[in-house]
Amino acid sequence: MHNVEPVTHSSLLIDNIGELVTNDASHDGSPLGLRLNAAVLVVDGVVAWVGDAGTAPAADGLERVDAAGRAVLPGFVDSHGHLVFAGDRAHEFAARMAGESYTAGGIASTVSATRAASDDDLERNVIRLVAESHASGTTTVECKGGYGLSVADEQRALRIASRHADETTYLGAHVIPAEFKSHPDEYVALVVGEMLDACAPHATWIDVFCDRGAFDGDQAREILRAGMAAGLKPRIHANQLQPGPGVQIAVEVGAASADHVTHVTDDDIAALASSTTVATLLPGAEFSTRATYPDARRLLDAGVTVALAADCNPGSSYTTNMPFCIAVAVRDMHMTPSQAVWSATAGGAAALRREDIGVLSPGRRGDLVMLDAPTHIHLAYRPGVPLVSGVWRAGVRLR
Ligand code: NIG
Ligand code: FE
Repeated sequence: MHNVEPVTHSSLLIDNIGELVTNDASHDGSPLGLRLNAAVLVVDGVVAWVGDAGTAPAADGLERVDAAGRAVLPGFVDSHGHLVFAGDRAHEFAARMAGESYTAGGIASTVSATRAASDDDLERNVIRLVAESHASGTTTVECKGGYGLSVADEQRALRIASRHADETTYLGAHVIPAEFKSHPDEYVALVVGEMLDACAPHATWIDVFCDRGAFDGDQAREILRAGMAAGLKPRIHANQLQPGPGVQIAVEVGAASADHVTHVTDDDIAALASSTTVATLLPGAEFSTRATYPDARRLLDAGVTVALAADCNPGSSYTTNMPFCIAVAVRDMHMTPSQAVWSATAGGAAALRREDIGVLSPGRRGDLVMLDAPTHIHLAYRPGVPLVSGVWRAGVRLR
């Protein structure tokens, strides 16, 4: 005889959901896979069952939540953030609102502040921003380095990021730091050499800011290829400030995502549409730099997979709030509320090549957001109102 430990399960049932966004197109053929009067059961962190209200199967250790007709959707997947930094650039923002234009040059001031900060200060900032994300319904966070721009500072950024973010991205190629301005080739050599070796163990992804004032197409290609050779997966900041080769490079290297995608040609759109590269739009950046928004309709009509992300950073988009991004995407980028919600959940998952999140169907992670509203449409219809009233990550309540 040997003792068998009793198996204890934790389960969460959310019942009486007025409108459930599943993103499971197999349900009704529509991208959001909407179910009315629904319920979801999560067992040990994973969705075990989705069905009609009041008909859930029995489960051990059950915690029952009555949604009382509210809407529930998958947790937001924020696939683009720069959370490891010190200081802020409020005055730069104010100057922009008074008429100055945004340039990549402002990044240098955050680099100085970040290099001067202690590990603890940087970590506290990441913890604060991840908590802020969770509070507004984000259940998956991607975090880049990019404000260290030295071997030691990029490595510590990723060490800190990997303790709190779900996905980490090496962005040694954010801009050329001041001390390399007269010999940029040496900086690129560092990014693909010693810095990559130091950072690759702490990251899944490699990213390059390919734009005016940052890296050109040849540099971006070289850096992404070097990262891929070191086992990292590519993504890219492309075509934010002006037209350029970034989107084409994304498709050429098989990047999971091209991010920003603001200034694009018909050829860029055709290349995206015939690829597996997601276009991740970052409406907070155009909002906060008072720039022209990307043409989301043009991308969607061409069949491009579109994600929405917050791009939280102290320069161009100091927000973690995905409901805000959804509202702006609907109002100013002409996405429908359904498209914006899909892009902020399933789209973000696609941009991170994650199969386990972004969809509520059996086997997926139990990441859920409950709104104090009857339908997902309210995320855009009631801009700025804190509608997120419940957040669960792998079945565990975050708020
Ligand atoms: O995604 N575009 C490059 N990087 C950030 C901005 C960084 C900054 O201004 O500090 C972005 O918008
Ligand atoms: Fe960015």
